[in-house]
Amino acid sequence: MIKGKSLVSITDFSKEEMLRIIELAADFEANPNQPLLQGHVIASLFFEPSTRTRLSFETAINRLGARVIGFSDVNATSTTKGETLKDTIIMVSNYADLIVMRHPLEGAARYASEQSRVPIVNAGDGANQHPSQTLLDMFSIYKTQGTLQNLKIAMVGDLKYGRTVHSLIQAMSHFSPTFYFVAPDELKMPQEYKTFLDQKGIEYHEYTDMNDVLPDADILYMTRVQKERFADLIEYEKVKNTYVLKNSMLEGTKDNLRILHPLPRVNEIAYDVDQNPKAYYFKQAENGVYTRMAIIASILGVK
Ligand code: CP
Repeated sequence: MIKGKSLVSITDFSKEEMLRIIELAADFEANPNQPLLQGHVIASLFFEPSTRTRLSFETAINRLGARVIGFSDVNATSTTKGETLKDTIIMVSNYADLIVMRHPLEGAARYASEQSRVPIVNAGDGANQHPSQTLLDMFSIYKTQGTLQNLKIAMVGDLKYGRTVHSLIQAMSHFSPTFYFVAPDELKMPQEYKTFLDQKGIEYHEYTDMNDVLPDADILYMTRVQKERFADLIEYEKVKNTYVLKNSMLEGTKDNLRILHPLPRVNEIAYDVDQNPKAYYFKQAENGVYTRMAIIASILGVK
C-alpha cells in the first residue's frame, strides 16, 4: 500500500509497488491532464541544484491540479540564518500535503521523513539514493524492452558517487538482471552494493573498457562523473573524461539496445549519438513527468 508512505530509498517500495507505479505512469502518459489533486499543496525543497528533477516534479504537480510551494535556491531561505533541517521540515509539513526534497547530505531525506507530518519524496540525497529517478528509469526500460526481466544492463562512469545507479541496481535486482559495471578504479561500484547483489545471487561483472560490454548490452546506462562529490578537484580532473560514447562505437550493438543517462551530461555522450535511434535519454527525462505524477498520486491516495 503506497498511500501515505514516504519514498526515501527505492527499497521502501516492494516489487509490486514499483510495478504499480510503472503501470500508472503509462496511464498518465496516455492522459497527462488529470486534475486529481485540486486543493492540495505540495512543497518542492531543493537544497541542491536541479533541472530535470525539480521541473518534472513541478510539472507533475501542476498537471495533477495541485499547487507548488518551495525553493530552488537555499540562499533565499532561513537556512542561511542557521535554521536547522529539522525545523524547516516541521514548518513545511504544516503547510503542505507532501514534500519533495533534494539535499546534498546522505541520509537527509530519511531524517526529514522522521521529522515530517507528511510524506517525503527523496529527490536525491548526496551520493546515496534517487528513487524517483529509478522509477522513471524502470519505466523507460520497460517501454523500450517490453519487459524488465533477464536484461543485460551496462552501467558506465561514476559508479561510486552516482546515486542513480545505486538505486537502480537495487530495484532491478527483483528482475534477474546481469550487470556490467564499467568504471575507472577510482570510481568503482562500492562494496556495499556488490555485497547486496551477492546476497541476492545477482550476476555482475566489472570492466574498465566500455567497448567490452557494448555488443552484449540491452541497456547502456551512462553516468556523469559527479564533480560536486570530489573533495579534491585534481582527482576529478584525472577521471572526468575516462569514458566518451561516440556514435561510431554503437556499430555492432544489439537492435534493442537503448542508451539511458539520468542527465545532465558533460562529455560522456558525444552529440553525434543524439540522432541515433538507440539514444533514449531525452525521452527518459520526459518519462519523469508521468512517473512523478504516478508517485505523487499514489502517495496521496488518489490513484
Ligand atoms: N537526473 C537528475 O537528477 O537531473 P537534475 O540534477 O537536473 O535534477
